[in-house]
Amino acid sequence: MLKVNHATRVVVLTGAGISAESGIRTFRDSDGLWEQHRIEDVATPEAFQRDPALVWRFYMARYLQSLEAEPNAGHKALVTLEEHTHFTLITQNVDSLHSRAGNKSVLEMHGRLSSCFCTLCRTRFILPEISFDGDLPYCQRCEGLLRPDIVWFGEVPYYLQEIQSALKKCKIFLIVGTSGVVYPAAGFVMTAKYLGAKTISVNLEKPSNHSFIDEFYPGKAGDVLPGLVQELIS
Ligand code: OAD
Repeated sequence: MLKVNHATRVVVLTGAGISAESGIRTFRDSDGLWEQHRIEDVATPEAFQRDPALVWRFYMARYLQSLEAEPNAGHKALVTLEEHTHFTLITQNVDSLHSRAGNKSVLEMHGRLSSCFCTLCRTRFILPEISFDGDLPYCQRCEGLLRPDIVWFGEVPYYLQEIQSALKKCKIFLIVGTSGVVYPAAGFVMTAKYLGAKTISVNLEKPSNHSFIDEFYPGKAGDVLPGLVQELIS
């Protein structure tokens, strides 16, 4: 097993699987969220244009659920890894559990539930600061309609430049709890591997992009990550 120190550049990519043990449902497992809501009804710009109240109800429910959730042993193991390495965490999750666990260098590439922005003037607000007028919230500056700060299908993820730069330099690329089907995140492993990183995956089942994984650890993130991180830093 490779050992790491403060100079070792480690990039971690997480997906819904790492939050599963905190009680937040994943997207594509049998009870996954998309089963109760068709993607095109809640997670596209067109859906928001068609029925903004439905989209707001969906994301407000997820926001409130995220407030109830607590970071689990998998999240905490990644805090330990950050304390011992040159660390960047890319997450597709929008629940802010990595930051709440204590990770500092977090790139929330698909946005965050706790924030929203004005569709006209782009001013950002945090959710506790906004109020709903009927079914919908409006901007306190220009009265434009506010939308969730979520990257929807068909939109460009956040932090792509920072992510590419981190991937190019990393020595270890660790992927946790993601099915490997949603791009561009699913392609990051190829970049990291081609540029020389060791690629490691922790997941319940083999992800779709497993042919680019050097070491696969099957199991729950909360069970596997604490031991794996201890191995790496010891
Ligand atoms: P998925 O629901 O597609 O995949 C979750 C993965 O985590 C699956 O491979 C599960 O086997 C695995 N898993 C479940 N529980 C686990 C556990 N306790 N420990 C480890 N692994 C576990 O979720 P994502 O890959 O994150 O995008 O989905 C990617 C994107 O698709 C999301 O960010 C979202 C969605 O569309 C947007 O909302 C823009």
